[in-house]
Amino acid sequence: MLKKVYEEFGRLFGNEEQSRCFFCPGRVNIIGEHIDYNGGYVLPCAIDIGTYFVIRKNNSAQVRAYSLQFPKLGIVSFDLNDCTKQKQWTDFIKGIIQIFKINFGFDVVVGGTIPHSSGLSSSASFCAGLAYALTCIDHKTIDKTTLAKECRRVENEFMGVNCGIMDQFIVCQGRKDSAILLNCDRLEYEFIPFDLQEYGLIIANTNKIRQLTDSKYNERKRESEEILSILKQNGYLFENLCDIRDELEKYLLCIPDTTLQKRFRHIVSENVRTLQAAKALKEKDIIALGKLLTQSHFSLEKDYEVTGKELDTLVHAFLNEPDCLGARMTGAGFGGCAIAIFKKSRLNEVKEKVKAIYEKEIGYEPSFYQVSICDGVKEIEHHE
Ligand code: GLA
Repeated sequence: MLKKVYEEFGRLFGNEEQSRCFFCPGRVNIIGEHIDYNGGYVLPCAIDIGTYFVIRKNNSAQVRAYSLQFPKLGIVSFDLNDCTKQKQWTDFIKGIIQIFKINFGFDVVVGGTIPHSSGLSSSASFCAGLAYALTCIDHKTIDKTTLAKECRRVENEFMGVNCGIMDQFIVCQGRKDSAILLNCDRLEYEFIPFDLQEYGLIIANTNKIRQLTDSKYNERKRESEEILSILKQNGYLFENLCDIRDELEKYLLCIPDTTLQKRFRHIVSENVRTLQAAKALKEKDIIALGKLLTQSHFSLEKDYEVTGKELDTLVHAFLNEPDCLGARMTGAGFGGCAIAIFKKSRLNEVKEKVKAIYEKEIGYEPSFYQVSICDGVKEIEHHE
């Protein structure tokens, strides 16, 4: 992909040898879903499908951007001071220019290997990649946690997406062959080697066209805020719902609404599971890790209600296979990807079986991705 992006840069803007190249990964979350915005723990990994950038300052006040994903749009040009959103991919660039206070024009070509709507964080990958590239070509430095926080602001304040910090954090701070256990409130983190021993991780995409994701996501976030405020009214002054680790039943008594009770149950239990999963991964107890993954899915299916028929079909098909250690949806849900843990020797066979079940049930095929766990955003050589 980089070769293509580099060649395209040369074709469109010339003198590609004076440009610089950057890569930002996507991510897969092992466990800790929908709790980053509740101050909980998450356990994601950066993956080597992501976004490539070839970029150079152009000594003007113009931005000229081209995406391999939208060739029909050609080069999109706009003035640095023009921050009007146009419901197209370049809106993100405008958000970055505003939040990062970019004051120079540039030419950029972008190409990505994260499938659209796969829930593997193509937008965090794009945003952190471009923001990092712009900082570097301006001869500035930025620490990766600040980079992640500012990229989240682009999503929250400019794009109007109320996401948490997980995606931005992992694509910035990821480390090869490791998961990060991140406390999303304090932004303290720890790397844990992602070593599944004789087991392997399958990533499967439902290929569902996601529609409701943003509105349902924002609804869950509002529900979380409502629970927190009901607790406050009852004299329980928690900063975040994930500050609650035990005595859930006691707090549940204050919540009259059964839907909110279910949401609350997921949030508190998922946070505890994530800590247990991190411990299991450290101790290389992959069987325990797998069980926690499956419990997480059931909680997201029954209590948080963010899965849907496609994800449930995939996960249940995995779980019905002998030797499946665990399976769950990953990311925001409502579509996107699921993960499963199997003996390495069975991976190919399982994919074929699950594919057939899914196709019969849903009417189209899922996709499977082979990924490696890699470092966070970085500059690369054009021949890498
Ligand atoms: C999306 C958001 C994250 C996180 C997950 C769910 O990926 O961007 O902040 O909330 O959903 O865990």
